[in-house]
Amino acid sequence: MHLTELPAWKALWGHFTRARDWHMRKLFEADPQRARTFWLEHGGLHLDYSKNRITTQTLTLLLQLAREAGVPEGIAAMFDGQRINTTEQRAALHVALRNRSAQPMRIDGEDVMPKVLGVLQRMAAFASKVRNGEWLGYNNQPITDVVNIGIGGSDLGSLMVCQALRAHAHPRLNMHFVSNVDSAQLKETLRRVHAETTLFIVESKTFTTQETLTNAHTARDWFLHRAQDATAVARHFVAVSTNLKAVSAFGIDPSNMFEFWDWVGGRFSLWSAIGLPIMLSIGERNFLQLLDGAHSMDLHFRDAPLEQNMPVVLALLGIWYINFFGAGSHVIAPYDQFLHRLPAYIQQLDMESNGKRTTRSGQLVDYETAPIIWGDSGINGQHAFFQLLHQGTHISPIDFIASLDNRGSLPGHHAILMANMFAQAEAFMRGRDELEARAELAAQGVDDADIARLLPFKTFDGNRPSNTLLLDRLDPFCLGSLIALYEHKIFVQGLVWGLNSFDQWGVELGKQLAHAILGELRDGVAASPHDASTARLIALYRGQRQPQA
Ligand code: F6P
Repeated sequence: MHLTELPAWKALWGHFTRARDWHMRKLFEADPQRARTFWLEHGGLHLDYSKNRITTQTLTLLLQLAREAGVPEGIAAMFDGQRINTTEQRAALHVALRNRSAQPMRIDGEDVMPKVLGVLQRMAAFASKVRNGEWLGYNNQPITDVVNIGIGGSDLGSLMVCQALRAHAHPRLNMHFVSNVDSAQLKETLRRVHAETTLFIVESKTFTTQETLTNAHTARDWFLHRAQDATAVARHFVAVSTNLKAVSAFGIDPSNMFEFWDWVGGRFSLWSAIGLPIMLSIGERNFLQLLDGAHSMDLHFRDAPLEQNMPVVLALLGIWYINFFGAGSHVIAPYDQFLHRLPAYIQQLDMESNGKRTTRSGQLVDYETAPIIWGDSGINGQHAFFQLLHQGTHISPIDFIASLDNRGSLPGHHAILMANMFAQAEAFMRGRDELEARAELAAQGVDDADIARLLPFKTFDGNRPSNTLLLDRLDPFCLGSLIALYEHKIFVQGLVWGLNSFDQWGVELGKQLAHAILGELRDGVAASPHDASTARLIALYRGQRQPQA
């Protein structure tokens, strides 16, 4: 049945006509148990979702919606290896990548576990050689720098995890990530490394991505110019891809290729060989811990009843705001410097998965889908964009994320960080009413006339929803669990909206036009006519380039 026809959807609209006027302050006052009721724990994560505009009845209706929308069946289909990526006729079985149990996971009857574990072993053997200095460059020196060349899902996950787990990084290996085809990034990186001690990892699921292949070719030219020996490439270039043919055509020996499969989506691939930079940086044992953390969340997601299921609950809260309150965006605010790339990572994960308006059956939706995901380090955000979140006109739910453990922080720092995070979540929930604002101004000695003038600016509505996610510590296990939590949350939202969360046709049009325009920029021949704006921009660019051409 169409989403908007489901009984729970209709019941939620009825419920919303009352709920939109609730204030969370009142909800907390009315129920001293609220912080216990709306609290979940799993996999080293503590989720406080009590600062949401919900009651137990809201949750009951949302859970009913999940059942009516077929969420339990969708979860089972994913774990069952069914081809749930319907437009590409592929399974989405990234959960197999972190299944190190003996349990088979099948696609069309074939157990994928032997090949998953086989690649994992090859990665581990390679990583160990590089890390212990056995893998030598062309003049027999150990590797000191690893340059990952990839973009999107072949960049963001490894980059984010390497940053997050810096405390576990190998002391000799400097990790670099090059994604931008703007040569400034590659140039800057190459300036900092030496050909004889650098390992390049070219990561691309398709091995056809223009940005990645351009950077990879330039890096190889740079390398050959220095090494002056084509056979040296084998010691300095490895590839991670599903496309053996294209990797060989590029000139990377297939024995230096680490494989993954079409049933691993790019944005869900950090657990596969795409995670090679992570394993190089933090080592096999820690990488396996990352997988174990994700696996633990997978089992929870598969087996926990919906009302205790962390990804399901987070997904439904999102739906409550997006579809009923009209919240168009969602903020990721990590209070941990090492997690500063998490918002960018979740941005791709969510927006590329559910940024869609066509259902699995090909109908256009008549409801909102994925929110705009944005964010930054929370403490920096407080001094930048939080003003809008406190007093602006948009509702933008926030996920506050931090580690309970201070990882040997310098004295005093961690407590300040956490105090700020707790205070922000409290301020967003409570706000400050006129009475409080008036009392504060009076206590500062402000006279009555000025109080009256300042009151509208000094009051905060509050009632702004947030989730607080605390990790026991920022270690590989908890991080794995956290990432899998978001993966599954996004999948559940896709299920409710009736979307295929595993394709990304929306990125194709721009790529095709860029190919056509590139030919035009180079040789001036237009492959197809353009609108006046694009034609003028191209003409301006070509005009500027003429003297150098
Ligand atoms: O253009 C989008 C996209 O296809 C992403 O889905 C993907 O993660 C990224 O490009 C990189 O693709 P590839 O790994 O094939 O180079």
